[in-house]
Amino acid sequence: MAVREICKNVYSVGVIDWDRQIFDELLPLPDGTTYNSYLIEGSEKTVLIDAVDFEFEEEFITNLARSQLSRIDYIIVNHAEQDHSGSIPVFLELFPNAKIVTSEKCKELLISFHQVPEFRIIVVGDGETLSLGDKTLEFLITPWVHWPDTMITYLREDRIVFSCDLFGAHYATGSLFVDDEPLHYILAKRYFAEIMMPFRSKVLEYIDRLSGYEFDIIAPSHGPMYNDKEYILDAYREWSSDDVKNRVIIPYVSMHGSTKKMVHYLTESLLSRGIAVRPYDLGRADTGRLAMDLLDAATIIIASPTVLFGPHPKAANLAFIANILKPKAKFIGIIGSYGWGGKTVKDLGDMIHKLDVEVLNPVYIKGYPDEEAYKGLDCLADEILNKHREYNIL
Ligand code: FEO
Repeated sequence: MAVREICKNVYSVGVIDWDRQIFDELLPLPDGTTYNSYLIEGSEKTVLIDAVDFEFEEEFITNLARSQLSRIDYIIVNHAEQDHSGSIPVFLELFPNAKIVTSEKCKELLISFHQVPEFRIIVVGDGETLSLGDKTLEFLITPWVHWPDTMITYLREDRIVFSCDLFGAHYATGSLFVDDEPLHYILAKRYFAEIMMPFRSKVLEYIDRLSGYEFDIIAPSHGPMYNDKEYILDAYREWSSDDVKNRVIIPYVSMHGSTKKMVHYLTESLLSRGIAVRPYDLGRADTGRLAMDLLDAATIIIASPTVLFGPHPKAANLAFIANILKPKAKFIGIIGSYGWGGKTVKDLGDMIHKLDVEVLNPVYIKGYPDEEAYKGLDCLADEILNKHREYNIL
């Protein structure tokens, strides 16, 4: 993509990955992504902020060549993950006098991932500044949005916050700025659920910290930039809060139809009580979409049959993912069916031990659901209704 001017002597030089379909071999990317990189030309020094995935290094280098700069003095590395750092080795080859400016933790990771020579790295601390002549960069060390190495770079004179993963969206678009908020909102929420949800308290801490800075533009490293910063700051405040909705998510897997029948019955039972419900067939579910819906549901019901002696592996995988992503849910229940025995309820309960939730009474039955099973599911629906009522979210 061409070099595009954001404001005087500040340019976007990143690339669009229209075709990427999965991230970390885990998260589907239905709308591709971008790897944003920014070039800032000061009166004395020129810097690049973040690089791009190694698969796009040729296009990236072409962009830098198009900028017609003979010299780049520094590359600011806000985060070492390879989607931003993958093309740093080729950059360092092409600009042999350029230095990396980054956090202490990021330095360690860059050396480990790319064997970057230590002498080419300058470590900055929280609040340190770098003068480019007529422009000044300030570094905010902000670990855990996404990894322990992450930092934010603030361009004082042009009032731009370069936030790297924070405030990003996996959204391949040629637009420099968000120009379709309803569409972007969904993609940003999905991204938040996939990447930032486990770090909600850090996100709130850093939003609070940014309130001490004057800025008009947020420039993340995935997706378009924001010239209406309140739009994304408000969304992040809401997503990061402890607030949940009167909503139940039921990720389920069923082998011979018993568990599926229970899920359908519970879904109807909850709907009749005025509770929003979304069942997810784990054999077909889009993990990112599921993560997004898990974000603010008050209750999660995991529905699994017993495979030999324990939960179906797809349900176990869901429990594992929930443990990592740490959704805001306050209540979790387990339902399902077994043939001759096993300890699915105990095993699934053990698997979600990292979640700060109240575990509801399970409904775990032998064989195909009968009237007794439906009664149990109605009791569970009543229990959920009462819990949501106590939580003031009806
Ligand atoms: Fe976009 Fe954590 O890398």
